[in-house]
Amino acid sequence: QSSPPETFTDAGTGIVFNSWGIPNGDAQTQGGMKFGVALPSNGLTLDAHEFIGYLQCFSKDATNTGWCGISLGGPMTNSLLLTAWPNKDTIYTSFRYATGYAMPDVYTGNAKLTQIKSTINATHYTLVFRCQNCLQWNQGGQTGGAATSSGFILLGWIEIGQHDNGMGIFGAVLDTNAANPSYTAWAAKATTTVT
Ligand code: HEM
Repeated sequence: QSSPPETFTDAGTGIVFNSWGIPNGDAQTQGGMKFGVALPSNGLTLDAHEFIGYLQCFSKDATNTGWCGISLGGPMTNSLLLTAWPNKDTIYTSFRYATGYAMPDVYTGNAKLTQIKSTINATHYTLVFRCQNCLQWNQGGQTGGAATSSGFILLGWIEIGQHDNGMGIFGAVLDTNAANPSYTAWAAKATTTVT
């Protein structure tokens, strides 16, 4: 299925995102989840190599159990996977790659994540980040990518709490709000590396 984007401006950073997700209250995943993308100004005519991402996931309580993840290719397999989990005041991330439906390997390509803003409250954790070399991937010679110039990308999502909290794929339609002349200025705000 394909999902038209919802455009929103993140308070605080002023970054404009096309976003997709599962609303809070939906039966598919407790607490909902939301993923947003901002592209370089030419990202709808040339395939972007990087984006600014917005990831908001649910955490049941302040002890921050669980993690969530995004597949930048749609399915879990043969796509660059990004996982995120909160711990105290920090959101940690890790790039992964899976060739089958089993515990993914650590990604060995050159994707790089730098944080712009991270927020953790009693129910949700939210990360705004720059993701460089994230839209073309190479795991030991196995390559793939997401073509932003097509105006459409396939995204997979997964949320894990103490128990499985849903997963799925959406066809994310990009509209003209996704690419922005302010991209370079926004990307320059990405200064925090968390390892
Ligand atoms: C789907 C296993 C970790 C992303 C699935 C499915 C299985 C599976 C069996 C298919 C379920 C169904 O169709 O009902 C596992 C195991 C993992 C793991 C055993 C680790 C121990 C991850 C991670 C990510 C991820 C770390 C992303 C960061 C997805 C996504 C789907 C999915 C997006 C839905 C799309 C699809 O079916 O391909 N996983 N997974 N998984 N998984 Fe994983």
